Amino acid sequence: MNLAIDLERVISEIDALSAFSDAEPPAVTRIVFTLTDLKARAWMKARCEQAGLAVRVDAVGNTFARWIGSDPAAPVVGTGSHIDAIPNAGKYDGVVGVLGGLEAIRALQRAGFRPKHSIELLVFTSEEPTRFGVGCLGSRLLSGSLSPEDAEKLTDSQGASLDQARRQAGMTGDLDQVRLLNGYHKAFVELHIEQGPLLEQQGKSLGLVERIAAPASLRVHVEGTGGHAGAVLMSQRQDALCAAAELILAVEQAARSSGSVDTVATVGICDVFPGAVNSIPSKVYFTVDVRDTDLQRRDRVLRVLNEACRQTSARRQVAVQAELLNADAPADCATAIVGALSQACKKHGFSFLPMTSRAYHDSLFISRIAPVAMLFIPCRNGYSHRPDEYASPEDIGKGTLVLAEALATLSCA
Ligand code: GLV
Ligand code: MN
Ligand code: MN
Repeated sequence: MNLAIDLERVISEIDALSAFSDAEPPAVTRIVFTLTDLKARAWMKARCEQAGLAVRVDAVGNTFARWIGSDPAAPVVGTGSHIDAIPNAGKYDGVVGVLGGLEAIRALQRAGFRPKHSIELLVFTSEEPTRFGVGCLGSRLLSGSLSPEDAEKLTDSQGASLDQARRQAGMTGDLDQVRLLNGYHKAFVELHIEQGPLLEQQGKSLGLVERIAAPASLRVHVEGTGGHAGAVLMSQRQDALCAAAELILAVEQAARSSGSVDTVATVGICDVFPGAVNSIPSKVYFTVDVRDTDLQRRDRVLRVLNEACRQTSARRQVAVQAELLNADAPADCATAIVGALSQACKKHGFSFLPMTSRAYHDSLFISRIAPVAMLFIPCRNGYSHRPDEYASPEDIGKGTLVLAEALATLSCA
């Protein structure tokens, strides 16, 4: 089979998709179910239909584009990723897996390949947690990791529920219908940029992911007493921001002292009320994101935070409420799929690095219902979740080619 990737086309599609954005280029912001996201989805659907794929969209907006195999009833070989983007992001995170996946299918079609198992591109809804606080919404629902009832209750910062937002976006079906049947996938492979520096540092062409780290996230509300910044004496204060600052540093310290570089913790949002120069903060809201390859170490950080909340609340006389949004287990990738990827790398003479994904991905949740693996492409300086995120056309071409080879191997037997 003579597989050839149309690199010019993939790169121009990545550029075209980046134009659907609520930020000034080169930054990309594409939040789930905004008008911009809906336009990007329509564009994506049209690309899939042009490739002759049968497209269906489920009740939460997960989009499936299927190349029907010679045995249509056989379990599907899946690939894909997400096209939503956090505020001030770059244009490759998720997108490379979606457009690279589409091009891998087109390359197989051009080569005259005929799959036995259908090959299906999956564009997941809201891999990013920006709007509803929890990442991987689509894949959580697909895998039964989030119940439809709990999903319906999720709200955004404006008070809109996921249910309202999806219905307004035209996804009116029943969330009960989203979950995939066991055995739906024979295999699922996600192509993604590395989002870290190891491939570049070690001069390897591609990363073969063997394990995906375990993420957890919380929302913390601190309520103290507001007042005049001049008139209230220090001994009389219950400053919510000072209490939050202690908690934020406690999280940082817990991650730093875990004994492993694999423990990471981040406070990415901190809102202060009323937010005036001369007013003592009465309320603070912040988020905590903790990850580790080891579940016990990750959970230790969560326990340290809970204890810090208790102690700070008592000492400073402020109310602290920590709401755990998610605490997910890590995932192991399937040896057979990693094997198919490494065979493809060897066939084309591409060097590769077995690695752990420290970022989470929809594959983490699909792994609960199907064998998965991930293929990483280097990204410059390891930059991601920022506008200067960059993956070279050459590396995107290599990743897409290896993906196409692996999809061929997995779908023919
Ligand atoms: C995904 O975007 C992550 O935060 O790992
Ligand atoms: Mn991301
Ligand atoms: Mn991503």
